Amino acid sequence: MLQQASNRFNAQELWQQDHDHFLHPYTHFDSFRKDGSLVLVEGEGCYVTDANGRRYFDGIGGMWCVNAGYGRREIAETMAEQALQLCYTTTFVDVTNAPAARLAAKLAQLAPGSLNHVAYATSGSCAVDTAIRLAHYYQSRRGEPSRRYVISRKNSYHGSTYLGMTVGLRDGDQSEHFKYVPDLVHHLSAPYPYRRPDGMSLEAFSDFLVDEFARKIKELGAENIACFIAEPAQASGGVCIPPPNYLPRMRELCTKHGILFIADEIVTAFGRLGHMFASQDEYGVVPDMILCAKGLTSGYIPLAATIYSDEVHEVISAPDPDAWFTHGFTYSGHPVSCAVALKNIEIIEREDLCGNAARVGDYLEKRLGELRELPIVGDVRGRRLMMCVEYVKDKATREKLPDRCNISRRISQACEDKGLLVRPLGHLDVLSPPLTMTMAEVDFVTETLRGAILKATDELKAEGVI
Ligand SMILES: Cc1ncc(COP(=O)(O)O)c(C=O)c1O
Repeated sequence: MLQQASNRFNAQELWQQDHDHFLHPYTHFDSFRKDGSLVLVEGEGCYVTDANGRRYFDGIGGMWCVNAGYGRREIAETMAEQALQLCYTTTFVDVTNAPAARLAAKLAQLAPGSLNHVAYATSGSCAVDTAIRLAHYYQSRRGEPSRRYVISRKNSYHGSTYLGMTVGLRDGDQSEHFKYVPDLVHHLSAPYPYRRPDGMSLEAFSDFLVDEFARKIKELGAENIACFIAEPAQASGGVCIPPPNYLPRMRELCTKHGILFIADEIVTAFGRLGHMFASQDEYGVVPDMILCAKGLTSGYIPLAATIYSDEVHEVISAPDPDAWFTHGFTYSGHPVSCAVALKNIEIIEREDLCGNAARVGDYLEKRLGELRELPIVGDVRGRRLMMCVEYVKDKATREKLPDRCNISRRISQACEDKGLLVRPLGHLDVLSPPLTMTMAEVDFVTETLRGAILKATDELKAEGVI
């Protein structure tokens, strides 16, 4: 059936139209000019099919987002029903719609602590923007308008709006040809245990990171800091799992100094680590705000949410006839998106996809861990269905392979040739499959990746690189 449907597409024409007219996110012009795009036309479960009818296991889960898997009829039907019943309402000021109201209540029920309030957006980047504007608004309304600095970390990714790109800081993201918001964001070291200083224990590394934050607070003055933003486990910055106790200790410092703790769970929420939200269930932290997108609708339709606490809400909604929260978007609380999110959450709960992610994810961790024995594998890390393999030239020194080897792309291409999509990212290949993955698929992914790494290793030897 997949094969037949993909025959409806003219692969070459699509490739050309895309090549000639679509400026992709994160285009690398030199390679795009030559290679263009992989044109995908269908998806079912964990698999996608390209315009030539080739089928792949989607180890990327779209872009960390197709948590419930492709081709869910009941999500498509929900979308159609809501579009026919009421395709749009504004939610500005005092108008709402049923799915937006119901979803807000559902998110309040699922989120930890007193995170009982929701502001909607249409992308993770806009949820980040909302959180930072909300933090400024909150600090000002509680009588501390000087608090405007944002504390973030290196290796973080918080989206690609003007503000998102200023808040995040991954190697290679900042380009001299773009501009960034000046004098707003201060970046701490990345909680990247694999590349911590030689001989430092994980506990000492955690101490170092927390001390650095304490020193930064002293240097800037707590009275000037609005918020700290962190992905509980850094995703696009290299799937970095923080050292023990790091997040609770960062939370403590935030609380002590009146700094809001914003957990960017745009990747980790809705099951990827085996929980609806990772902050509390995985890392023992209740933030002041949690941001989610991606898995909220499993990528079926754009939607993001900034979920924040009763304490913040009490301050921002305190009586004041002149106070307006002048923030929000045309599509905040879009009824079709919210209806899809409700259906998606219903599926995640009904099929216990968090439980499956935990079981299959533990097995994926174990099986991928076996790749550590390979000569160019420096590290295999991550948690459950958020994993990566980091390649090195020298395992002892952790020296990286030269950029010209394009190692992650080479390996991802070899995987693609064998029907597996993994995401190349600098010196890493990343995996974030749908939560419906099976144990047998874990074996397929591990063995395919192993074959691709061995092939690349032979090539590097032949080239005299290793
Ligand atoms: C942790 C994190 N925050 C924010 C974003 C931005 O989300 P979006 O691309 O929907 O704007 C992403 C996207 O990958 C992300 O991984």
